[in-house]
Formats: sequence, structure tokens, C-alpha cells
Amino acid sequence: RKRLVLDLDTGVDDALALAYALGSPEVELVGVVCTYGNVTMRTAVRNTCALLELLGHPEVPVLAGADRALAATSPFAPPAAVRRIHGENGLGDQPVSGRCRCAPGDGVAFLRDELRRAEGDGAELVYVPTGPLTNLAHMLTSIPGLADALGRVTFMGGALAVPGNVTPCAEANVANDPAAADAVLRGGLRTRMVGLDVTHQAVLARDDTAAWRELGTPAGIFLADVTDHYISVYEENNPLMGGCALHDPLAVAAAIDPSLVGRLPTNLRVDLEGPTRGRTVCDPDRLRDEEKTCEVALTVDVPRFLGEFRARVARALA
Ligand code: BDR
Ligand code: CA
Repeated sequence: RKRLVLDLDTGVDDALALAYALGSPEVELVGVVCTYGNVTMRTAVRNTCALLELLGHPEVPVLAGADRALAATSPFAPPAAVRRIHGENGLGDQPVSGRCRCAPGDGVAFLRDELRRAEGDGAELVYVPTGPLTNLAHMLTSIPGLADALGRVTFMGGALAVPGNVTPCAEANVANDPAAADAVLRGGLRTRMVGLDVTHQAVLARDDTAAWRELGTPAGIFLADVTDHYISVYEENNPLMGGCALHDPLAVAAAIDPSLVGRLPTNLRVDLEGPTRGRTVCDPDRLRDEEKTCEVALTVDVPRFLGEFRARVARALA
């Protein structure tokens, strides 16, 4: 089994990504590094602990990560629009309970240890960020040889051929720290971008949440209520979509089974300033390079993904 580390800004679709991972027999979730974005980093820790407890995996370590973008001077607090989408507490304003037990050390030290352990026993380590790429940018500068040691990083973020979701050009995770995303995309790491090109095609409707609620379990009811909040906001903001976008679960799915998405090999960079700040774009300086470090997901087998999503979340809720 591959070992999986998630890097979450634990809002609603991050919670669904966590459930997807826990319901996936191909991977062992060895830790969750937290970040800011949908919520503050501290709230992401609290939410992640509560979700792991609820889903029956309190043993998975939860690590504190970056609480702000590389260039920021104070901790990040989510703006009103984000608090509306994910709820003030990041989980649809459903009461979040449970002990919060942050593991000692931080995300960087944790990944260093996990890489050493994987090297020792030949296991494959998979890293999947579904928030801003700040933690990974810190890891790149603090862990020598990271680009070679770590397998391909599948991240949720960016948009290549479709508009952004916070500005006409930028997707939220990249917009929250364009410099970090640029460092990751140009730092020699092998990456797979699961951006709005595909995540806006992967839509979950209310029938699924109804099925979770009917389980009658605390976890089933909680996940249904949290997701219904998210769907309601999508119904207001994107009435033609017919549900909510499964951004973060699709990244976990594509990390486990890349054949779910059609991929364009290319080299990307991020616009750091001006009206296109946060845009992910093919790097003109590396257009003719033989080596392409990024696979950009541009198509997705939606029925197959939704089938996997249903089966795996059901397993996590069982
Ligand atoms: C991304 O931004 C966050 O709000 C979501 O959790 C997802 O990771 C979508 O742009
Ligand atoms: Ca996220």
C-alpha cells in the first residue's frame, strides 16, 4: 500500500477528500498537514481532528503547518465570501466537537521523517495538497533533495483553460499564495494539477447526501449536513451546476488512479503580479524543454469518478 499525506485547509470539500482517502484501500493515510485558506490553520487542525475522530481514525497524526502565505506578515483569516461558502467554522456551521490533538513537530519535520521511513522500507509516499501550496514551498526549501525523494505531487488548484473562481484568472488555492505555487511548479518537483478545468465537471447532487443521512450514524448525518450547506451555496451562486464541485476529492482520486483524468504534460508557472495574479499558465521559458514536470488534468471521466467517490465515502462511513 502506498502511504498518503494530505495537506488540507479543512473546509467542506477537504472533509470529503479526507473521507475519500480513508475509504481507499490502495493507500494508508499516515498524516494530515494543515494549512490556511477555507479557515485559519488552527481551525483546519481542529476540523481535521474532529473529522478523523468521527470517521473512526483518531490515530492519524494531524500536524500544524503554515498559517500564512510566504510573503504575508500576519496569519491568514478567510474573507467573508469564503466563510459563506464553507461556513464560519469551515464545516457548514455544524457543531464541531472532539479533542484536538495536534501531533508534536510541524509539517516540514513530519514529511522529512516520513521520507526517511519510506526510503528505509521502500514504500511509496504520496503527497496531496488541497489548499494553498505554502507548506510544500517550505518543504522544498527545508528538505534537500525533496524533488527527487517525493513521488509526483497531485494538488488541487489552478485553472489552465477555464476562468478562475476568485478572479477571472485565479483559482482560490493558487490565489492565496501565488509565490508558493510558482516555487512548487518551477522547483523541479513532479506535479499533477487537478484544477478547475476538471473539478468544475465533478458535481455532487443532493441524492448522495440524502443517502449518507439515511445511514443514521453520527458521521453520515454530519457529512450530509456539512455538504448540504456547501450545495446550498452552490445553488445560489452557480444555479446551473446542479450541485457542488468535488474539487478536493478529485485530487485524491487522481493521485490514487491517474487514469480518471486526461493529462497534458507541460511546464507551468504562476503570474505573481498585476491583474492576472494567481494565474497558472504554461511557462514560455520552458515551452521547448524536453522534460515536462507537470501533468495538467484537462478531462475527467465523471461517471467513473462519481462511482468511485460514492463507493469510497460509503466505505469511510461504514
Ligand atoms: C479550492 O479552494 C477551496 O475553497 C476548496 O477547498 C478547494 O480546495 C477550490 O478553488
Ligand atoms: Ca481545499
